Amino acid sequence: MAVVKLRVVRGTPETGRKVAEYEVPYREGMSVLDAVLWVRVNRDPALAARYSCRSANACKECSAQIDGKVGYMCSTKARPDSTIELAPVGGRDWIRDLVTELD
Ligand code: FES
Repeated sequence: MAVVKLRVVRGTPETGRKVAEYEVPYREGMSVLDAVLWVRVNRDPALAARYSCRSANACKECSAQIDGKVGYMCSTKARPDSTIELAPVGGRDWIRDLVTELD
């Protein structure tokens, strides 16, 4: 079965950053946000990520650094058998895990 490996920055300004790794079963058409939400349901409900609309950049809340570039997790497709690096967007106040203050 194909998997998507996520390497996700975890922590808060108080605890500092750590990277956690998760293996997510790949599903056809899966977005990076879908993979993050799978981790929340199946591995760690405490993984913090902000989103509302879950599709096509409508709310613009799910931005993150995805493989080093700022993008929207809901509109970025996960590829089978790939590793995706996720980090909070730089240049904004960091709150927890993938969540920053919004601009
Ligand atoms: S969840 Fe709304 S833009 Fe991604």
